[in-house]
Amino acid sequence: MVKLFISTFALIILASFIVHFDFEKNISEYKLEIPEGFPKPVFPEGNELTQERIDLGRMLFYDPILSLDSTVSCASCHDQSLAFADNKSISPGIKNRLGVRNAPTLTNVAYNPTLLFDGFLKTLEMQVLVPIQEHAEFNSNIVDVAEMLKQDSTYARMSLAAYNRMPDPYVITRAISSFERTLISGNSKFDQEVFQRKNVMNRSEKRGMNLFFNQLHCTKCHSGFNFTDFSTQNNGLYQVYADTGRQRATKLEADRALFKVPTLRNIALTAPYMHDGSIATLEEVIQHYERGGISHVNKSQFITPFKLKARQRKDLINFFNCLTDEEFISNPDFSNPFE
Ligand code: HEC
Ligand code: HEC
Repeated sequence: MVKLFISTFALIILASFIVHFDFEKNISEYKLEIPEGFPKPVFPEGNELTQERIDLGRMLFYDPILSLDSTVSCASCHDQSLAFADNKSISPGIKNRLGVRNAPTLTNVAYNPTLLFDGFLKTLEMQVLVPIQEHAEFNSNIVDVAEMLKQDSTYARMSLAAYNRMPDPYVITRAISSFERTLISGNSKFDQEVFQRKNVMNRSEKRGMNLFFNQLHCTKCHSGFNFTDFSTQNNGLYQVYADTGRQRATKLEADRALFKVPTLRNIALTAPYMHDGSIATLEEVIQHYERGGISHVNKSQFITPFKLKARQRKDLINFFNCLTDEEFISNPDFSNPFE
């Protein structure tokens, strides 16, 4: 599996050297709208955003052709109406096979310096290979997928327009990543209140915001415009974890049971919570933090017990609801192009 992954990736890197130069000069850059209060995302060289690339990536994202039996697409587990997460603890892939982790939101994924809960994989382009080849996701092979796409005149045409070459692993990984980079969410009630300076949050929501930012320790990890410092941490879910988290990638004891700090944007839409979907509601997440988590050698020093009144818990949840971005989940540019 790992070998297959590495050899496919080598193939893609190799392919990247033979891009047509005239074409590169002529591409028209797509202007990504950056919300108030957000930094400019850093994109990898050689895959500048263009409308053609985004359009192709959007089709591929929604097309079950990527899975071995054409039953599952990226959108099966990353659903726009749920902020590109889903509502299952573990999402089934082809033939209802179950993986081991909860599907995370793709909200503002352009900003993530690392992908997956391990906090190790560096680019979206590399990440695309994971679901395509995972036994419990698409159980397919990117070279076979490319062959199928070449036979399809629409894909062949769109691929030439986007990258000046026929569909191949280079095109598939870069086009899907281009679409994913447009999934920017920055117009929640919180953004309108704080960054756009409109007075839209009510008293309870503001009390919740104050608890979150000033009274609890949440922003030791869920900090910044995207409510994450992008680090990997242990927040005390178990004494013994079935999933070893970042250690899977690094093999280091110090990384055992560390998971990437998730964004809290659109958090009301992405239940159940945590890497294994083991916590069903936000109320229960808050109770988990109030208990100070379960003791673990790698548990962060910032996970310590505290006590909230029922009203404060409600305030905090009302604040979380302000992180929902209705425009994001209904934006027609992000929807299924086949419907
Ligand atoms: C069967 C469900 C399923 C399908 C299908 C699926 N994913 Fe995922 N996705 C997941 C799960 C589960 C994770 C978390 C895996 C992990 O951390 O190891 C994930 C993680 C991701 C991440 C990392 C997000 C982050 O912030 O770390 C990206 C990006 C992503 N998927 C994109 C895609 C794309 C693109 C496709 C289609 C090519 C796709 N996914 C298909 C379930 C799925
Ligand atoms: C030490 C760093 C740290 C602190 C402090 C922290 N968290 Fe977290 N939080 C995490 C990590 C890591 C995860 C993911 C754990 C996992 O997947 O197993 C997480 C997950 C969550 C989730 C679920 C996200 C999802 O998409 O599944 C919510 C909600 C959350 N935290 C809220 C809070 C709140 C509220 C506070 C303050 C009371 C807080 N966190 C404090 C690190 C932290």
